[in-house]
Amino acid sequence: MTFGSSGEPRPRMVSKEFLLLRDMIYEHAGLSFDGDAMSLFDRRLGERVAALGLRSFNDYYKYLRFNARGAVELEEAIERLTTKETYFFRQEYQLRSFAGELLPRLAMQNSDSKRLCIWSAGCSTGEEVYTLGMLVRESALFPSWEVRIIGSDICKSSIATARRGVYQAASFRVTSDVLRARYFREEADGMHVIDDVKQLCHFGQLNLLDGGRSSMVGRVDVVFCRNVLIYFDLRSRRRVIDTLLERLLPGGYLLLGHSESLLHLSTAFELVHLREDLVYRKPLINQRCDGRGRL
Ligand SMILES: C[S@@+](CC[C@H](N)C(=O)[O-])C[C@H]1O[C@@H](n2cnc3c(N)ncnc32)[C@H](O)[C@@H]1O
Repeated sequence: MTFGSSGEPRPRMVSKEFLLLRDMIYEHAGLSFDGDAMSLFDRRLGERVAALGLRSFNDYYKYLRFNARGAVELEEAIERLTTKETYFFRQEYQLRSFAGELLPRLAMQNSDSKRLCIWSAGCSTGEEVYTLGMLVRESALFPSWEVRIIGSDICKSSIATARRGVYQAASFRVTSDVLRARYFREEADGMHVIDDVKQLCHFGQLNLLDGGRSSMVGRVDVVFCRNVLIYFDLRSRRRVIDTLLERLLPGGYLLLGHSESLLHLSTAFELVHLREDLVYRKPLINQRCDGRGRL
């Protein structure tokens, strides 16, 4: 690999530079990396150092901090360091519980307002959001309701992909042929989500650590925050969980990824046992646990 256009080899990251950049990413996005991530930083951000014609990662750090375009470049760095892995109907057992048990409860709970709002927090390229739209349509429980499914992610490019709603084979690794035929239209550039589902889904860029801006989402009945908290340490998780709790309506549900839980976090959530899954619920009367109620 060459440095800029001059043909010099690009600079290699040293530990001090790694620590500076790692802390900056952590402060901004809550993402927590251990020392093993230095080669990942070196590889993925090295391309940016070269593209900007900078002499070192230390210069890149200064660029992020002090250049007028630093904030834009920080987004670029985060784009490169996040894991975007996702696909339709991921964690099917949980979706069965959601469709079979939670949607009917919500249909009863909200029968007066006829409104349903679901938030996929950290939705990556949108597969989770459209999956929820398809499950709502499949349930046939919400005819002529106002249904909104909101997807948010810190990465702008993922949100652009989500808005487009066109997907390739890798997104369909567990989707049945029946659902694929029902909810997608095949075109030369890929599989397009049909308009009947697309119209339920809305996307926006949002850093989950930015508690203030998350009020844009409004109040929601359900939050899916799956395979996001695994990249955070306890402190960032706590901040994000507080935001999710704040956005949920009383009686609303929080669904996490299969390897995630609120263990070690004292929260106001109640644990709800469904047939195939454990989910969290915001109590109808919001009370903070006193420590004994730790989930
Ligand atoms: C592995 S994907 C999970 C996608 C989907 N929820 C799923 O389970 O298939 C994790 C996503 O979290 C997003 N993410 C990481 N840190 C974030 C933050 N601070 N705010 C919002 N999204 C974040 C990443 O950009 C990435 O798209």
